Amino acid sequence: MPAVEIKPDVYWIGVNDRTTDLFEGLWPITEEGVSYNAYLINDEKKAIVDLSKALKTDEFFDRIAEIVAVSEIDYVVINHMEPDHTGVLRTLRKIAPGATILGSAKTKKMLESFYGITEKVRVVEDGEALSLGRRTLQFFSTPFVHWPETMMTFETSHRILFSCDAFGSYGALRGAIFDDECKDLGFYQKEALRYYVNIVAKFSKPVLKAIGKLADVPVEIIAPSHGLIWRKNPRLIVDLYKKWAEYASGETEAGITLIYGSMYGNTETMMNAVAQGISRVGVPLEIFDAARTHVSYILPSLWTKAGVMVGAPTYEGTLFPPMAQVLEMATLKRVLNKKVAMFGSYGWSGGALKHLKKIIEPVRWEMVDSLEFVGKPTDEDLKKGEEFGASFAEIIKAQG
Ligand code: FEO
Repeated sequence: MPAVEIKPDVYWIGVNDRTTDLFEGLWPITEEGVSYNAYLINDEKKAIVDLSKALKTDEFFDRIAEIVAVSEIDYVVINHMEPDHTGVLRTLRKIAPGATILGSAKTKKMLESFYGITEKVRVVEDGEALSLGRRTLQFFSTPFVHWPETMMTFETSHRILFSCDAFGSYGALRGAIFDDECKDLGFYQKEALRYYVNIVAKFSKPVLKAIGKLADVPVEIIAPSHGLIWRKNPRLIVDLYKKWAEYASGETEAGITLIYGSMYGNTETMMNAVAQGISRVGVPLEIFDAARTHVSYILPSLWTKAGVMVGAPTYEGTLFPPMAQVLEMATLKRVLNKKVAMFGSYGWSGGALKHLKKIIEPVRWEMVDSLEFVGKPTDEDLKKGEEFGASFAEIIKAQG
């Protein structure tokens, strides 16, 4: 994709990544891809806002060179130090040694530790404005959205907020870079939720603080560093982020995430009976096989739904390991305040339930009920399972 003019003097100069399998070395994006959006303001002083991962570096610099010689760049604004936005920084330094890097005080320290860069770095203060000639940039400190050094940059004449990770999503750009050109907003909204829960959700309080802080800034375009640029309806992505951030401490949706694992099909058989009971009550239900689904895709359901139904056998006296891994990641991501029930098969002694209770202790999930059985479930067990699912669903329904 060539550079795209967003408004006079302001260009998208990002990079589409369709070859990285794991974002942060952890989260699958093989199917979806991701974009590293960067922006160029071509004024009397020339500024780049955020950069790119060190990938397709030639393409990145060629894109800038369509508009201005890279060596003539005056400022590089670093909203966030994570290497998906700074990976090409050392190369840029070699091509444009005169460019001044702008960032927060914490960014200055990180520039040294990540890249050994100490020269021509200028710390900008919260609220500080910088004139480029016709255009002015204003900087807002927004710590922990996503790292402690993070800030956002506001272009005052076109009213564009360069928000970096905030309001971003997984998903490479598919030709269209603006929300009003995109024919599949549902894809980006779904991937924005997965991105939020995988990357940002642990910092939901700082997200709400940043949204509150910027409430009076007259933003007309939101230009994040991943995913679509929101110029027709920026409120949509802000409201989604606000809703998801509020889920960290408030009420969520009246639905159930059923995660199960099964070694020889016995727990899976019971899972079908439990799911039947839940469905009978009419509560929204999502079902995941813990051993076959990456936790990246399970977390959005866990984050947004009030109930968690865990179906897992006892494995060597503990919870079936793939289930333990999913739930441990959920605790790391601070998925809080859920109601949970558990069912599963055991061979000669239990242990799964005890292990589950230990895992969920730090995130204050309320253990509502459990149903364990020996070996293969009998017809009687399955009848109990259906009722077990239905009664849990009734509790979740009443909560909504
Ligand atoms: Fe897109 Fe936190 O980096």
